[in-house]
Formats: sequence, C-alpha cells, structure tokens
Amino acid sequence: MDPRLAEMRAAWDAKGSLRALYADYYRRIRRDLAAGPTLEVGAGFGNMKHFDPAVVSIDMLAAPGLDAMADAQHLPFAAGCFANIVMVDVLHHVERPLDFFREAARVLRPGGRIALLEPAITPLSWAFYHYLHPEPVDRSVDPMATAAPDPDRDAFDANQAVPTLLFGPHAARFRAAFPELAVVSHARLSLFAYPLSGGYRRWSLIPRPLVGPVLAFEDALLPILGRAMAFRMLVVLERR
Ligand SMILES: C[S@@+](CC[C@H](N)C(=O)[O-])C[C@H]1O[C@@H](n2cnc3c(N)ncnc32)[C@H](O)[C@@H]1O
Repeated sequence: MDPRLAEMRAAWDAKGSLRALYADYYRRIRRDLAAGPTLEVGAGFGNMKHFDPAVVSIDMLAAPGLDAMADAQHLPFAAGCFANIVMVDVLHHVERPLDFFREAARVLRPGGRIALLEPAITPLSWAFYHYLHPEPVDRSVDPMATAAPDPDRDAFDANQAVPTLLFGPHAARFRAAFPELAVVSHARLSLFAYPLSGGYRRWSLIPRPLVGPVLAFEDALLPILGRAMAFRMLVVLERR
C-alpha cells in the first residue's frame, strides 16, 4: 500500500468525525447519481466502497480495497459501461483535467453523471488552504492547459484552485470544449465541520456526535455564507 494512503487509512480508522463527514459527502453525491454501475476514480483506499460495496474503485496508487490501479486520464474501460463517475478530492490532483473529462465522456452512458467533490476557493477558504494546507492554490494557471505530461509528476501533486477555475471563470470555455457534458448542479458545501475536523490530519476539533448537528446548521447558512466561506464544492455533470 502506498504509505500516504496508509496514513490516510489510519486517520480514517482513528477519526469518527472524518468518517461521519465522508458519510455525509457520499450521501449527497449518491442523491445526484443515475441508476446503474458507478466508478470511483482516485478512490484512495476504496472510500466509497465503505458506503456502497458495489462501486468499482480505481486509483493511480496501490491500496487494499481497490479494484484496479489506473489513471483518470486513461480509463481502462469500454465506452458507455458506467452510469456514474465519482471523484472526491481528485480533480485538483489530475495533471491534464481535459484528458480526464474526455475519458469520462467516453466511458459514461448517455444520461450518466460525473460527481466531483473538490476544494472551493472562497475568500475564507483561500486563507486556510494557502496558509495551513500543504497543497498549493495557484489561481494564475489555465485549468484547460494541455502541456506535455511531466514524467516526474507525483499522484499527490496538486493545484487546489483548478476546480474553482474550471467551473467558475473558465466555465464558458469548459462548456465549449465539452458540449456533451452539461453542468446540472454546482453547490458550495462545508463551512465549519470540515475545517474543524482537520480532514486526514490526526487532530480533530469536532467530536463525532457534533458532526450531524453542525452540518445541519451549515446547510441553513450556506445560501448566505457559501460564496464567502465555503471550503468545498460539489459539481455534477450529465453526459448528454
Ligand atoms: C487527496 S487523495 C483523495 C483520496 C480519496 N478520494 C479521499 O477523498 O480520501 C487524491 C487521490 O487521487 C489519486 N490520483 C491523483 N491523480 C490521479 C489520476 N490521474 N488518476 C487516478 N487517481 C489519481 C491519488 O493517488 C490519491 O489517492
């Protein structure tokens, strides 16, 4: 098992608050999926399988619980064989996002869905991600660039700004490049519970029993505070 995924798995096993947050993420994601087989890409140690054992799980790195090691940019599946593709915190690690969307459009059947749960860069989350999170946030890049692949790239190399750029300032370009992938929803999530949980770090400032009530409180505040404070976004696309 890749040591970074082993560390994440240890945090998952130790932290009830983290598991409760992911249960909420996958509950929201599953509400938006089409009927039929689901592929989780960049599944880490097979996260979605904890909530839905029928999911096919792949990642570039090795871990128990995965069905295969594979790259989001070259999916080893036949055309039209999935009803859904789910990615949680993966798109911002993918070197050439357009290659992923091209592959996703190929392996999805018409009416199939892509659900992407990613960092949202808002004024508050920017400060947190920039100063307290090890992954860079570079809003100056072109998220649709197609530079030659870097042979030294690591699966955890990242730019947390990519999803916000792609479905924000560059959304019209994305629509023009992928008319077959329509954005059917774009929600901002996570105000307090996620940053307080510490994610996969060993610490947590929120006990597991408080996660549900805090998430319910967040849902009430998101329409007012989401644009300024949300830490995450859930984007759902549909294959036309
Ligand atoms: C931050 S981790 C998220 C793991 C898991 N989805 C979760 O939320 O716990 C990012 C994952 O994306 C994987 N990844 C990065 N680039 C990838 C690619 N091109 N194809 C498949 N997986 C990739 C990494 O190996 C890593 O497991």
